[in-house]
Amino acid sequence: MGRATAIYRVRGMYFSGTGTTEKIVSAVAGNMAAELAQRLEGPGREAATLRIEKAPDINFTPPKAREQVYRFDEHDIIVFGVPVIAGRVPNVLLPFLNTLEGDGAMAVPVVLYGNRNFDDALIELRDILEEQGFYTVAAAAFIGEHSFSRKLAAGRPDEKDMAVAESFAEQTAEKIAGLLQEAQAGQMLPPEAVLNIMLEDLGPVEVEGEQPLRPYYKPRDRKGNHINILKVKPKLDKEKCTLCGICVDVCPMGSIRAEAPGEVSGICIKCCGCEKACPEGALYFDDPGYLYHKEELELGYPQRKEPSLFL
Ligand SMILES: Cc1cc2nc3c(=O)[nH]c(=O)nc-3n(C[C@H](O)[C@H](O)[C@H](O)COP(=O)(O)O)c2cc1C
Ligand code: SF4
Ligand code: SF4
Repeated sequence: MGRATAIYRVRGMYFSGTGTTEKIVSAVAGNMAAELAQRLEGPGREAATLRIEKAPDINFTPPKAREQVYRFDEHDIIVFGVPVIAGRVPNVLLPFLNTLEGDGAMAVPVVLYGNRNFDDALIELRDILEEQGFYTVAAAAFIGEHSFSRKLAAGRPDEKDMAVAESFAEQTAEKIAGLLQEAQAGQMLPPEAVLNIMLEDLGPVEVEGEQPLRPYYKPRDRKGNHINILKVKPKLDKEKCTLCGICVDVCPMGSIRAEAPGEVSGICIKCCGCEKACPEGALYFDDPGYLYHKEELELGYPQRKEPSLFL
């Protein structure tokens, strides 16, 4: 007797202030779903026991989206992305990330960084996902235009990065398809149980990074003193602002007031989403420490870095 069809859902899930993480995660998830379907479905396959569905991506950038608990199971495959902030996973996301329920789902941790370094962000994200019940099967660090700058890694991820993203999706699909096919071939136990054993045996995907995790990266001034940009917030040129509300919708912390975009109340993570999205160029940063750090990054990391893939 043939086995019942098992459906595997592939989707992206991301936090993205200026859209670079979104771009990579959506592309990887979309390509992975197509590549998996090609390998596992269709003519010549044994009684179509596996089906791949592309589920809608989950964007947890808006604060409202982080009020929900997301529960997955062993039929989910999630490409999970966050930007690198101070060499780590954004710390404002930790309470939310700790509510995720993987329950045996497979995950592909992805981080985007602004051409300086991803330091311990990927290993931290991998371990959070493992802790929340996901099996991490592949991982990657891609480069995105630096949030603070229009010059540093300008326009990235670009065409070349997107080609790497496509290849990463293909290689990850190859790995997952192999696992799913092997699990299906098992005779003694249900495929889900075999897959579980195989994933346990494989262990977390090996990535670059240190453990214990290094402290958050701290910018320094010319004299080597720490520059504290924690309290820095964007300012508003009232003459230019049309009160269109775009920045209000963009802010991942819900910190911009619709009636007065110049009054940023609450936390600002300097994601620069508001500044880069404002069609009037009405938002700007003028804190000397922040501007010094931005320039130092632009001068210090001009050499193009390439994505790092872990499979
Ligand atoms: C507060 C802050 C800290 C950052 N720290 C780093 C860092 O340590 N290393 C790095 O290379 N890029 C760093 N970046 C740059 C972002 O990781 C990068 O621009 C990323 O592509 C942004 O993703 P997004 O477009 O999805 O928001 C930082 C950005 C912000 C806002
Ligand atoms: S996006 Fe720019 S123009 Fe629109 S409300 Fe915000 S600051 Fe004003
Ligand atoms: S106010 Fe701060 S956190 Fe909100 S969008 Fe602007 S830079 Fe990002």
